[in-house]
Amino acid sequence: MRAYESDYPDHTKTPGFGHGDEPPCNKSENQTFYDVMDARISRRGWLIGGLAAAVSGVLAQGFSGSAQAQGAATKPERMGFEPVKVGAADAVVVPEGYRVQVLGAWGEPILGSMPPFRAGLNTAAEQAQQIGMHHDGMHFFPINGSSSDGLIVVNHEYVEPRFLHASAKGRELNSEEVVVTDGVRNAEEVAKELVAQGVAIYRTRRDADNRWTIVVDPRNRRITGMTHMEFSGPVRGTAYLVTKYSPEGVATRGTLNNCAHGVTPWNTYITAEENWAGYFRNAEKMPREQSRYGVSANRGRYAWELASGGADEFARFDATPRGASARDDYRNEPNGFGWLVEIDPFNPQSTPIKRTHLGRFAHEGVIFAPAVPGKKIVCYSGDDARFEYIYKFVSAKTYDLKTASGALLDEGTLYAAKFNADGTGQWLALVPGENGLTAENGFQTLADILVNTRLAADRAGATKMDRPEWGAIHPVTGEVYFTLTNNTARTQAQVDAANPRSQNQFGQIIRWREAGDDHAQTSFRWDLFVIAGNRATSSTFNGRALGEDNIFACPDGLWFDAAGRLWIQTDIGESEQNRGALEPMGNNQMLCADPASGEIRRFLVGPTGQEITGVVTTPDMRTMFVGIQHPGATTSPKDFAAGKINSAWPDGQGTIPRSATLVITREDGGVIGS
Ligand code: FEO
Ligand code: CA
Ligand code: CA
Ligand code: CA
Repeated sequence: MRAYESDYPDHTKTPGFGHGDEPPCNKSENQTFYDVMDARISRRGWLIGGLAAAVSGVLAQGFSGSAQAQGAATKPERMGFEPVKVGAADAVVVPEGYRVQVLGAWGEPILGSMPPFRAGLNTAAEQAQQIGMHHDGMHFFPINGSSSDGLIVVNHEYVEPRFLHASAKGRELNSEEVVVTDGVRNAEEVAKELVAQGVAIYRTRRDADNRWTIVVDPRNRRITGMTHMEFSGPVRGTAYLVTKYSPEGVATRGTLNNCAHGVTPWNTYITAEENWAGYFRNAEKMPREQSRYGVSANRGRYAWELASGGADEFARFDATPRGASARDDYRNEPNGFGWLVEIDPFNPQSTPIKRTHLGRFAHEGVIFAPAVPGKKIVCYSGDDARFEYIYKFVSAKTYDLKTASGALLDEGTLYAAKFNADGTGQWLALVPGENGLTAENGFQTLADILVNTRLAADRAGATKMDRPEWGAIHPVTGEVYFTLTNNTARTQAQVDAANPRSQNQFGQIIRWREAGDDHAQTSFRWDLFVIAGNRATSSTFNGRALGEDNIFACPDGLWFDAAGRLWIQTDIGESEQNRGALEPMGNNQMLCADPASGEIRRFLVGPTGQEITGVVTTPDMRTMFVGIQHPGATTSPKDFAAGKINSAWPDGQGTIPRSATLVITREDGGVIGS
């Protein structure tokens, strides 16, 4: 097999790195999505007239039994709001007739002694009792089916140290930079960074005056980068997971870089570990299970391994072998990350479980197909890095409402997606003995495949994608939609600035329909729902360009409400927001799409420097929760040092910006979006 040793780029030196994104690590020869697109376009001879027209042609082909046909039967309620304009203000803008409240900002206390938020001054112990930083995937779990009382479970993806620590004041720091003094980091600050990530669970209720508040409840909980958790599935107990902390290879401390999420059919929450690899370093020649994921050769992203005092819980971020065997050090610590982690929000004593059969990669999130009694459980997950893959898992056992549990995720088949030029596609099984996954190619066991999921998908011949982010499944047609946010590596390698469409700075949304409308099948038909961009470079599947009401770029968050409205959230990177080709899109935004007609309308624009990520409604669809992540992150190091932070959202002038959840309602109490 190809060697995947240490010829990967140094994380800290990759252009564009530093905004929560991973550098490209895929050096396999597999076809990229654009190879496939180009093949489809040129074969049909649509290159004349420009790429936008060509793409429209491809899109207009549709596929048999498409959403258009189904749309008539599903009759999703029309979008009843007037689109909001593109904006660059430090404010949240929603359509006329809508109201916005801020709930659960970073630092709000939810448990223990309920320590109040003190910007930059809370201790690590206090942060562990407060809502974390950088809100991402989120779900509302109703209590007894209520639409006014439930548990919010929200991911905290990463941290902005300059906003987290008072010691950063007056220094020229960028949004992810940390202070290292004489080769050492302050251990209290490292601890605070570890507990500001992870997951927050808190009860929230609507009061008589229609405001939502945090309610003290025994279920309120923080799960962090320090929380004890266990592995299940085929990798549990294997040599891959043996560390000083867990000599039997069954447990680890913490979940990190918690991006998007999933909700299982048995009503538990799954948090996805995305850009975890850069948190680790290994100074020696790395094994493939580290190099293929981008573990740093030099320093971890926040240099946690340099915490003063050398405590075990920080030193573990240095995977350089030091002891006699894996039981004596943390050479395998990175193998404990890159998983999907199941959490039961209703049982505060429960141990989070890393479900290893769902694969190890930069999991953006996970989306479950509707569970049908007597049928297998199916879920989809994207690997968000340039040129990585889309995966699905099909359980071995079938669903039974009474007995269903996370154990269903411990036995089954993991597949990677191959998108063919003719609009068909295959799911390639990642199992020993199939698709080249043999002992002679480096895959002896199922654990070999799962720990090295990316390498297995390379070998199987999956299609390299433009950073797969969230997935969503149409509640009626069963079509699976996935956002492909952009691919800046392609930009640098191949295209000039005058041709932004080909650079794919804008991203697209792909969709597919499984054979026989059975999610467990191994073939499908695919198409593109929308190519994002400005008027000249975009197209919806029915051939219309995006315009004033809906131009957008870098689709990321994606969610279907129960009426079949598709909510699209954008994440234009900090270095590109309101600049160059991305300038016309303004601040990051959320749009609403009707998958039947292809119509898309801008619903919300967020404040300065943030991305919109996380969306769900109450069961009655009259309250929507939306996440705002990293406001103010576009503040330059110089401006930060001068005390000129470009966002003061949500607390107002002179305050440090805070990620938070929006509560969106209608003045007339109606259904959101209708
Ligand atoms: Fe965490 Fe790919 O966004
Ligand atoms: Ca981001
Ligand atoms: Ca995302
Ligand atoms: Ca993103």
